[in-house]
Amino acid sequence: MQLTTERIEKRFLQPFAGKAVAPPPIWLMRQAGRYLPEYRKTRAEAGSFLDLCYSPKLAAEVTLQPIRRYGFDAAILFSDILVVPDALGQSVRFAEGEGPRLDPIKSVDGLSRLALSNTNDKFSRVCETVERLSQALPRETALIGFCGAPWTVATYMAEGRGSSDQAAAREWAYADPEGFAQLIDILTEASIVYLSKQIDAGANAIQIFDSWAGSLSEDEFARWVIAPTARIVSEIRSRHASIPIIGFPRGAAALLETYIHGTSVDGVSCDTSCPLSIMQKIAQSGKAVQGNLDPLLLVSGGDALDRRTDAICRAMAGLPFVFNLGHGIVPQTSPDNVARLVERVRVNRA
Ligand code: CP3
Repeated sequence: MQLTTERIEKRFLQPFAGKAVAPPPIWLMRQAGRYLPEYRKTRAEAGSFLDLCYSPKLAAEVTLQPIRRYGFDAAILFSDILVVPDALGQSVRFAEGEGPRLDPIKSVDGLSRLALSNTNDKFSRVCETVERLSQALPRETALIGFCGAPWTVATYMAEGRGSSDQAAAREWAYADPEGFAQLIDILTEASIVYLSKQIDAGANAIQIFDSWAGSLSEDEFARWVIAPTARIVSEIRSRHASIPIIGFPRGAAALLETYIHGTSVDGVSCDTSCPLSIMQKIAQSGKAVQGNLDPLLLVSGGDALDRRTDAICRAMAGLPFVFNLGHGIVPQTSPDNVARLVERVRVNRA
C-alpha cells in the first residue's frame, strides 16, 4: 500500500503501509463510553442507547469526547455492531445495565423478517455521523468506521442476547448449515453496503469486530469467520483500493495467521491472551498489529500498568504497531488511568 498525503498526515495510518511509527499511534476500543462523565451526560440526553447511535449530532459529540481529552491518534465512529440487525428488521433494545435484547431468530424461518432494502434510513443516519466527524476531527486524527463480522452478529441474532457460549448460533449452524449460511450471506451483503457507505462518508480505515470468533472449531472457523470476512474484504477493496481493513478475531490467536492469510486484511487487533511473540511475527511479515493490553490492568493502574505498557511497546518497537487494549475499556475504569497510559505510551520513542 502506498503512502498518500492523507497517510503522512495521520500517523495512525502508517503501520497499515507496513511502517513503524515511534511512539506508536494509540487509540482504545470503547474509548467513548460509560467511564467518561461527559459520555454519561450525553447518553442521558439521548434517551436510549440506539437513539444515541442514530442521532448524528450526539453520536459525533461522544466520538469526539475522548479525542478532546486524550488526543488519541484515531477516533472510532460511535455506533454499535447491532445496528445492522436492527436496520435489517430485527429490532434491538438495550435494557439498562443488561445489554442487548433481540427477538431471536433460531432457524431459516425467521429470515423473512430481514431485508437489505430496510437498511437505507438507519445506515444513512450513521453515515451522517461519519460526515460530521470527517469535518470536525483534527487533520492528524484518523477516523475508523466499523461493523461486526457476520458470525459475531449472527450469534446475537440467534441467541437474542449476549451469551457465554453462543450456543444458539452454533447449534443452528450444525443442524442446518445451508439455512445458517443464508443468514451469514444476508449479513455479509449488509456489511459490504454499510462499510462502503461509511468509507464514502469519510472513514479512513475500517475494523471488523469478530468478538466471538474464538468459540469455533477449525472447520467452522474457516466457514463462518474466514469466508464471509474474505468476501467483505475483497468487495471493499474492489471499491476502495487503499482503505486499510483491520480484523479482530477475538480469542483466536492460534488461528490468527490462518485468518490473515485467508481474509487478506491489512492488520489485526489482538486480544489480551495473544502472546507478544505471535504479534511480533505477524508485524514482521509486514501486517499491522494492534493490541493487547488487558482492559482490567487499565482499571487497577499503578506500576503494573506502566510495566506492561512498556513491555508491549518494547516488544513491538520498530514494527508496524498500533497501541490498543485487548478488548474494550470497561465502565469502572478511571479516566486518570487512561491519561496515565497515553502519557506512558508517548514516551516510548525508541
Ligand atoms: O468507542 C467505541 O469503541 C465505539 C463504539 C462501539 C460500541 N460498541 C459502543 C457501545 C463499538 C465499536 C462497539 C462494538 C461492539 N458492540 C461489539 C464488538 C466489540 C466487543 O466489545 O466485543 C459488540 C460485541 C457489541 C454489542 C454490544 N453493545 C454489547 C454486548 C453491549 C452491552 C455490553 C456493554 O458494554 O454495555 C453493547 C452496548 C454498548 N456499545 C455500549 C457502548 C458505549 C454501552 C451502552 C450504554 O451506554 O448503555
